[in-house]
Amino acid sequence: MSNKEKIVWITGASSGIGRALALRMAQAGYRVAASARRADELDKLKNEAAQQGGEIVPVPLDTTKPEEVRAGVDRIEREMGPISIAALCAGTYEPVLAHELTAEKARPVFELNFMGSLNCLENLIPRMTRRGEGRIAAVASLAGYFGLPTSAIYGGSKAALINMAEALQPDLAKHGVKMQIVNPGFVKTPLTDKNEFGMPFLMEVEDAAEAFYRGLHSDRFEITFPRRFSLILRLLQMLPYRAALALTGATVPKEKHPAFAPKLSRS
Ligand SMILES: NC(=O)c1ccc[n+]([C@@H]2O[C@H](COP(=O)([O-])OP(=O)(O)OC[C@H]3O[C@@H](n4cnc5c(N)ncnc54)[C@H](OP(=O)(O)O)[C@@H]3O)[C@@H](O)[C@H]2O)c1
Repeated sequence: MSNKEKIVWITGASSGIGRALALRMAQAGYRVAASARRADELDKLKNEAAQQGGEIVPVPLDTTKPEEVRAGVDRIEREMGPISIAALCAGTYEPVLAHELTAEKARPVFELNFMGSLNCLENLIPRMTRRGEGRIAAVASLAGYFGLPTSAIYGGSKAALINMAEALQPDLAKHGVKMQIVNPGFVKTPLTDKNEFGMPFLMEVEDAAEAFYRGLHSDRFEITFPRRFSLILRLLQMLPYRAALALTGATVPKEKHPAFAPKLSRS
């Protein structure tokens, strides 16, 4: 089957990594269905792809709403054809220090990053296993490898996604379906624009999309970029806790931490 006949579904396509990947896939000749909540942004994406000779079809939906995801997948397969590749990029980030942690802050992040991906998977898996082919790439994060300061919520949601993909991979492989996990480091997007700290190994979004694109054409389970940062965090994961936690402890942001706040004088 040539790229022209293959349907790719990308969530989180209105911005950042998902958007750049949608353009890269369309440029390679794939027919791309692009999902996110902002229909106006998806229309702009469609026009940008058309100017480059590519095809992107907007399928606006909210991945936290099971009925919208079901209707969106139904529509894509009815109007375009069977989904060959799904890249689940929709996600969000909520940095918190320990004293800021609440269940209320965590709930929407898990609802989008974990349950939102699950809403997509429950529609993709039966279709792809029935056909005996397909590829699903769920976007997690290097922050899912090991708990990092400020990532108690975000990292937890991504660790859950990594674990789920690991559990599904061997099972899906028996049905001819390829499960992949995507673990990016820092990529310059609206999601990281809110970070006030220096982000090591920060990548441009086009480079991230290129690495993602190459990973989707490989047999690897994990697609990770940039490689050096991924390696550093893998090493961290392998250290004894005492050493690993001493290293991560050094990255707790002092300027926001109550333990480092100037003490009020008594007079
Ligand atoms: N940037 C990084 O450094 C980095 C690093 C590691 C992992 N990641 C992961 O990569 C993925 C993409 O991140 P990004 O940096 O490209 O972020 P981004 O620019 O903020 O894009 C997030 C995308 O998710 C969509 N989205 C948010 N809520 C949604 C919902 N309820 N339903 C459907 N779509 C929704 C947004 O579109 P709408 O607002 O239009 O819905 C947008 O298209 C995320 O899963 C993120 O956790 C990013």
